[in-house]
Amino acid sequence: MTKLVINGGKRLQGEVKVNGAKNSALSIIVAAALATKGECILDNVPKSSDVGTICLILKSLGVEVWFDQNDKLHIVGASLKEYQAPYDLVRKMRASFYTAGLLLARLGKAEVPLPGGCAIGSRPVDFHIRGFTQMGADIVIEHGFMKAQCDELIGTNYYINRSSVGTTINLMLAASLAKGTTVLENCAKEPEIVDLAIFLNGMGANVRGAGTDIIRIKGVEQLHGIEYSIIPDRIEAGTFIFAAAITGGDVLIKDIVVEHIRSPLSKIEEAGVIVERGSTSIRITAPERLKAMDVETSPYPGFPTDLQQPLVAAMCVADGTSVVRENIFDRFRYVDELRRMGADIKVERETAIVRGVKQLTGAPVEVTDLRAGAALVIAGLAASGTTEIYGVDIIERGYASLETKLEQLGADIKRIGSQEEIDVFSSMKKPTRV
Ligand code: UD1
Repeated sequence: MTKLVINGGKRLQGEVKVNGAKNSALSIIVAAALATKGECILDNVPKSSDVGTICLILKSLGVEVWFDQNDKLHIVGASLKEYQAPYDLVRKMRASFYTAGLLLARLGKAEVPLPGGCAIGSRPVDFHIRGFTQMGADIVIEHGFMKAQCDELIGTNYYINRSSVGTTINLMLAASLAKGTTVLENCAKEPEIVDLAIFLNGMGANVRGAGTDIIRIKGVEQLHGIEYSIIPDRIEAGTFIFAAAITGGDVLIKDIVVEHIRSPLSKIEEAGVIVERGSTSIRITAPERLKAMDVETSPYPGFPTDLQQPLVAAMCVADGTSVVRENIFDRFRYVDELRRMGADIKVERETAIVRGVKQLTGAPVEVTDLRAGAALVIAGLAASGTTEIYGVDIIERGYASLETKLEQLGADIKRIGSQEEIDVFSSMKKPTRV
């Protein structure tokens, strides 16, 4: 069984480069298949397993997808022909539901399995479905699938109940090729939404207002391929911030957009860390012991829910008591694993009260969800003795080469087990045409 083995207590020092954003890549790879003319060539695509999964889903729909020798991802959407997304791949991640927007826009027909609940609670897609319906799609839910069809999608005014990243993305995809103008209100404002809008506009779409509450999308007849580079991963950057902070480290985090991590940076400064801001990098110099602080998660530009767990891990050994409120997902199951390492955490509904202890102790622990995995790695870096982390495949959904990067920073961390999940990328070769 694959595991990460960490001998804690090493101070992180040196430089680390951040990958392209997994969450941007997932929507942009699907968006690339909207093009019926030319190919999209994507740079800075992270080779995490979720990215592998979305590529395999597109391939199963008939899209040509391959990595060249420079690790650029090529996507030729013209060959898209299947309208049924396969359950065995879609079930692996919720972002697969973006294929619904793609298929409706391109083929006027989509059969996509409904994402089930997951380790961070029930995650419905009702906002997505209501949006598609309002754009003229006939939708039935049958045998666990959303079955949708339309003659054509028609622009509409749609108020998204709750600022939802996935809904905003799916409706942007659908609206790009719809007839007329779609106005989305109460949109998510995450940097990944802006990245998608810039990409779509490069392909010939007409998307205005991304990054604000209201996005206007004037449908166009056809989209074409372009070359594009994905933005840096702000969540990976944040993970290194908390990893450096918990070890009292001194780390230069490179290839980032500093503005995208304003909220985590201001929080870590509150904890006593010195942050030197460069144009595309930051240097983190942490004290021997962090100070406790309070935080609540909220949509961008607030503190990201995806960094709540890494932050709690760091607060486990801070001086004082931290109060952490989670407003987006049901994301506290992992605290039982931190408790097994000696953390003192009490959870009351959406709030975790973390009393800092002097020292965590290494233990065998199990990853419950992606960012919980990052939190356990962070805790293991500071714990005394050995931490064995099981469920590494979940961490690899969102982090490519996390252990290699941490090792280069001086951590004593080893991945033990098979590499087979990474092999998915080596199977993506340029198709030979006859
Ligand atoms: C995306 C991110 C995820 C991040 C989350 C919040 C990707 C691939 N994933 O997830 O990493 O943690 O944003 O920043 O980009 N909701 C509904 N009905 C819906 C849709 C959402 O009730 O139809 C609720 C959700 O349960 C949640 C909230 O709205 O409570 C926000 O979810 P959403 O922003 O849609 O998250 P995801 O797009 O799934």
